Amino acid sequence: MIVNIAIDGPAGAGKSTIAKSVSKELGFIYVDTGALYRTVGLNALRLGKDTKNAEEVVPTLEGLDVSLRFVNGEQRVFLGEEDVSTAIRQNEVSMAASNVSAIPRVREFLFDLQRDIAKKNNCIMDGRDIGTVVLPDAKIKIYLTASAEARADRRFKELTEKGQNVDYHKILEEIKARDYQDMNREIAPLKQADDAILVDTTELNLEQAIEYMLKTIKEHL
Ligand code: DC
Repeated sequence: MIVNIAIDGPAGAGKSTIAKSVSKELGFIYVDTGALYRTVGLNALRLGKDTKNAEEVVPTLEGLDVSLRFVNGEQRVFLGEEDVSTAIRQNEVSMAASNVSAIPRVREFLFDLQRDIAKKNNCIMDGRDIGTVVLPDAKIKIYLTASAEARADRRFKELTEKGQNVDYHKILEEIKARDYQDMNREIAPLKQADDAILVDTTELNLEQAIEYMLKTIKEHL
């Protein structure tokens, strides 16, 4: 029997770091669906399109080849034959991804790809609408969140440690803007599924959050 675990939540709640670690422990693959929206956003940016404008973005989907490959259990995302796993992490791609993700045709375009992976693999899939739309029958659903301030704080530390000169308030504003946009779009907005378990990591460090998630998942498996 294939087991699917859905994790949804806002940007910067630690979904990917926590889910990666928990998947390894369980022997599941980890699927980061945000990477798909980022790839569509990156492609539109490269073509000079306004990522908020559906009329400009929808034609870019024609013949677009986005795929996920798993190398030693690790997800890589491809645009045609180009591995764009690093390119999609640039800061301007985050908002572009959020913009294109509000376009219904973009969501339809990526839907089957996500469903097919989940049908064939034991996986932890993370995103915004996994428990509500993509995998409504997932065995376990988790809504992972933390206060916007805690998330901005973590992001600030992460970038500062990388030697980047960043402004905390700007990061906080960006996080709030993306939360607002992801939670208030008409189609598949970010929200906690009725049957999802709420995990709030505001007061937890990474190790505690991973431990808590593993415990919660094992109790429900
Ligand atoms: O998880 P992330 O920050 O890489 O996602 C980038 C954007 O993609 C996010 O702001 C909203 C969108 N997204 C979505 O709409 N649905 C998903 N399942 C995953 C991401």
